[in-house]
Amino acid sequence: MGRMPTNNDNKTVFRSCARWIRVCAGFSLIAVAPAPAAEVSSPDGRIVFDLALDANGQAEYAVRFGDETIIDRSKLGLRLLGLAALERGLSEQRVERATSDTEWEQPWGERRRVRSHYNEMLVTFAAEGRPARRYMLRVRVFNDGLGFRYEVPRQDYYNEVAIVDELTEFRVPMDATGYWIPGRGWNRYEYLYRTTPLDDVSLAHTPLTARTVRGTYFSLHEAALVDYSGYTLDKRRPDVLQTYLSPRSDGVRVRTQTPFVTPWRTVQIAPDAVGLLNSNLILNLNEPNKLGDVSWVEPGKYIGIWWAMHIGERTWGSGDKHGATTAETKRYIDFAAEHGFDGVLVEGWNTGWDGDWISNGAIFSFTEPYPDFDLRAVADYALDNGVRLVGHHETSGHISNYERQMTAAYDLYESLGVRQIKTGYVADGGQLQRVDGQGVTHYEWHDSQIAVRHFERVLEEAAKRRISINTHEPVKATGLRRTYPNWISREGARGQEYNSAWGEPNPPEHNVLLTYTRLLGGPMDFTPGIFDLMHQGPNSEFRVQSTLMHQLALYVVLYSPIQMAADLPENYLEHADAFQFIVDVPTDWEESIAVAGEVGDFVAFARKERGGEDWYLGAISDEQARPLSVSLSFLDAGRAYTATIYRDGDEADWATNPYDYVIETKELTSEQTVELHLAAGGGAAIRFRPIPGTEE
Ligand code: NOJ
Ligand code: CA
Repeated sequence: MGRMPTNNDNKTVFRSCARWIRVCAGFSLIAVAPAPAAEVSSPDGRIVFDLALDANGQAEYAVRFGDETIIDRSKLGLRLLGLAALERGLSEQRVERATSDTEWEQPWGERRRVRSHYNEMLVTFAAEGRPARRYMLRVRVFNDGLGFRYEVPRQDYYNEVAIVDELTEFRVPMDATGYWIPGRGWNRYEYLYRTTPLDDVSLAHTPLTARTVRGTYFSLHEAALVDYSGYTLDKRRPDVLQTYLSPRSDGVRVRTQTPFVTPWRTVQIAPDAVGLLNSNLILNLNEPNKLGDVSWVEPGKYIGIWWAMHIGERTWGSGDKHGATTAETKRYIDFAAEHGFDGVLVEGWNTGWDGDWISNGAIFSFTEPYPDFDLRAVADYALDNGVRLVGHHETSGHISNYERQMTAAYDLYESLGVRQIKTGYVADGGQLQRVDGQGVTHYEWHDSQIAVRHFERVLEEAAKRRISINTHEPVKATGLRRTYPNWISREGARGQEYNSAWGEPNPPEHNVLLTYTRLLGGPMDFTPGIFDLMHQGPNSEFRVQSTLMHQLALYVVLYSPIQMAADLPENYLEHADAFQFIVDVPTDWEESIAVAGEVGDFVAFARKERGGEDWYLGAISDEQARPLSVSLSFLDAGRAYTATIYRDGDEADWATNPYDYVIETKELTSEQTVELHLAAGGGAAIRFRPIPGTEE
């Protein structure tokens, strides 16, 4: 459905508002409390966004959810290098309105059909005289939240623009409980989550999720981060968080030309925690697929020569313990073929890993294999066995070395039948290396405009060769998978790798918190499925802090269209009965529903497979054991299902008894409820198969 004409009631409101704004801007000494000037609400009327000019002629907005203020009067504006700011002294406006209710289809995803239903308002602010200035604010309000962005048209006196500050504020209740990670640190997005009053936030990445004292949930983030820089939330004053755009190495935040639009600044809002998880806001604010036919983008499961390096059994570099050998890769391919995996990732296959690979980004070759790795032979062997190699490019953050070799590297993989590449940007925050035409090295942030442009270039070059990209150490996820469906997954948070011996392990609540924060942005390549939970022994501090059943549940809980079975093949055979769940679980879904949860405590998702009739349920708990009762009303009504339940045993506990589990079968229908016991650090996974002939 397209846009609908403005109705007469709205026109009346806006005429009077426009008059109010002119009057107030003209007499800036009169201290009047700003009244709502232009208002737009969600289709269900619960979320209201209002916009006004303050006494200085600066735009400010507020957001209400029912009778609760989520964002109090907050300023808007952009400051430009050497030019008059798009900030104060604005005195005119025009308001255009639209409404839209459409449905679109995801080529792959957590659900096939996505409804996009919103009311829109486009407000023009302008100042006459020299220099004349003009910008628009486009606001879209959905039932699950809202987004607004600046749209800067061609200006009378300039086109080139260097943005030095974005003034967008979020005056959120500081007594709300926030769930957040620190922004712009050396470890990028890979920090443990903090649970504090918002008052304690200093600089935080988004998504930042919060619960107000009245129990409303909201999350601040952004959508469609294209040719701009990512922002962190900066607590500049006691009661306000402000966007802090990641700077380029030249100190400017964004270089662009008019006309341009910024990414959407988003606020997801829900009356309960699972409401945030069931939101499509971020996807709905992105542009549709621009790659055309993307049937070559293949969701699926993979294993890889990977964990062995993280736990020190193998090395990425050459030598006796080199992991990526022809023989070892064939062993993995055999295992993949036998158990129905789609891909085998091989890390450490290319020259450049020897020595300190984290600092040696300039010497990686992306086309030259180590001598003990016969690239063509293993690629062919994989295809002959119905499996594909998953490519790997660790750049160590040297984006120029990668860009120089990119087309040759992608051509090579394309010629070998590779359809997916995992890329890596291991470098401290602010240390991506870019070498300019004069040979001078510049250091950039992973969420800078420079990096954002780099990632887009990667996607476009890869798409030309029908290759999908799984980025590790990426920029944050902002829903661009809709526009570029070959951006199939990414890391961008602490994943399983921290449970090896090189990092402080993730505490049990981490995986729960991921769903309410990082995953609101989009899929994560967490790499679940570690079965040897005590790989350094039971007394080591380097334990995976979960039960075995929690590892299974992660395949349903942490959405990604590609899921790794991260452990060594031999460890799966130790628990073949539990491994069956990993073999069975799909990665592409017809529908997904978060059915229960509380931020930081527990979460449960039900998902229906795409192209089939089975349902799956995954539930995980934090460090607390808890009962969980889940209504099965999501199941298709009127048929009976065989449920294979993988659950923690009564004595299970991640610390003392992670392998106590029960696998049992029950016949269940949508009328029933399943009662589960989640252990400390525990979980449950269920496969529901319809029983033929039980349809009503
Ligand atoms: C960091 C990635 O997250 C990890 O999965 C990979 O093994 C290493 N980089 C090496 O590329
Ligand atoms: Ca990583």
